[in-house]
Amino acid sequence: MTRALREAPLQTEPSETLDPKNWDDIRSLGHRMLDNMIDYAADIRDRPVWQPIPEEVRARFRAELPRKPCDLDEVYREFTDFIVPYATGNVHPGFMGWVHGGGTAVGMLAEMLAAGLNANLGGRDHIPIEVERQIVEWTRRMFGFPDKASGIFVTGTSMANLMAVLVARTTALGRSVRQRGLSDDGALLTAYTSKAAHGCITKAMDIAGFGSDALRCIEVDRSHRIDVAALRARIALDRGAGLRPFLVVGSAGTVDIGAIDDLRTLSSLCREEGLWFHVDGAYGALGILSPTLAPRLAGLENADSIALDFHKWGQVPYDAGFLMVRDGDRHRDTFSAPAAYLRRETRGLSAGSSWPCDLGPDLSRGFSALKTWFTLKTYGTEKLGAVITRTCALAGYLEARILAEPRLELLAPVQLNIVCFRYRADDANRVNGKIVIDIQESGIAAPSTTLLDGRLAIRAAIVNHRTDTDDLDALLAAVLRFGAVRTRAA
Ligand SMILES: Cc1ncc(COP(=O)(O)O)c(C=O)c1O
Repeated sequence: MTRALREAPLQTEPSETLDPKNWDDIRSLGHRMLDNMIDYAADIRDRPVWQPIPEEVRARFRAELPRKPCDLDEVYREFTDFIVPYATGNVHPGFMGWVHGGGTAVGMLAEMLAAGLNANLGGRDHIPIEVERQIVEWTRRMFGFPDKASGIFVTGTSMANLMAVLVARTTALGRSVRQRGLSDDGALLTAYTSKAAHGCITKAMDIAGFGSDALRCIEVDRSHRIDVAALRARIALDRGAGLRPFLVVGSAGTVDIGAIDDLRTLSSLCREEGLWFHVDGAYGALGILSPTLAPRLAGLENADSIALDFHKWGQVPYDAGFLMVRDGDRHRDTFSAPAAYLRRETRGLSAGSSWPCDLGPDLSRGFSALKTWFTLKTYGTEKLGAVITRTCALAGYLEARILAEPRLELLAPVQLNIVCFRYRADDANRVNGKIVIDIQESGIAAPSTTLLDGRLAIRAAIVNHRTDTDDLDALLAAVLRFGAVRTRAA
């Protein structure tokens, strides 16, 4: 200890605690915060979906590090005035960009309760870990995985996909890869996914040390499903060249148009070829809860691992990503790392091994399981499944309206809950790009864009449980209105 520290006067009063002097003060403000956030969700339609951030508001968040205390009322006022109005907008039913869940008031309350407990779910023997284990067990049953399966909450599917690549790597090369690194054997490993797969899989191969070139992005059919014959041929070619195929990543709901690969055929191929079969089910995997979609996910039950997000179609507030691995030993072999300060016991707070820190890179972890537990218990899987089914029916409604409107063109078959279309125009890519920005800035809706065969699409991903036909009508009316303005201006 330094001399200065040794000689610092010890406060005998609890004056340095961060607790309030008067708990009733924070109680009344806390109740107001809660009321306001419940109103925020209840009255969300009165707000613009999104609005641009004025420069002076942005500048407020370039402030100096606060050295002195500030009244909580004042900090909260900054939140209501400068943060709430400029949030992403995905609570709003008009938000259809990317793949964003809408959240629920139940999830919000659960998040507050989790923060109150301030539990660290890296490990140890406490009931929050049992709540996470409960979700693992429910998810295992949802997907028909064996008893031996393991699961863990992570930030999102990007992280879950990366972890799955690492589990597949350890399985292919043995545990020693964790000491020796990829070395010469690792340099021969090749993985396979489709051209329509999410970019985080390429990123995972890069981060895992294989390099993105070791990922073969296979052609897709007209519906954006992986071409299994081309996949087979590429695996054979690579084997012929002395390489070691080790992993296939199938998609259950591609990000662009919602295609589901033929998971059953992929699982058979992986079994024949001795490859790890991982499924990126970021949003689509929870389609298993919808009786109409579940048959299309056949084969998912044979996967070696599944990545999914409860924060997308599951409507749990961010973040609540999840990785499930069929063989929990493989999962633990990849991440468990004994340390003296994490010694396990059979009694006391250090009991209850194995711990979540044995299943992933994180040691300190929050209680994402609680908001998921509240969501699953409060709504039940039937209702959540019905929400998923309905978002697909709404996509069908939007598709029908687009097909009936000569000024619009559908750019991809609607397979799930994603609709890609454009306003017909010369210079259509430029015009449609502008239309999307115009709509976002109008606050009417928030679609996003993607490129399909070089054509810029307006992309509406209907994920939010609040979205209704009125919101889709408003989106189309805005596309037609801004389309007319933009083509007149051209
Ligand atoms: C198919 C697919 N995979 C992976 C991801 C990445 O998930 P996350 O944003 O939770 O990391 C997404 C995100 O939309 C996705 O749609």
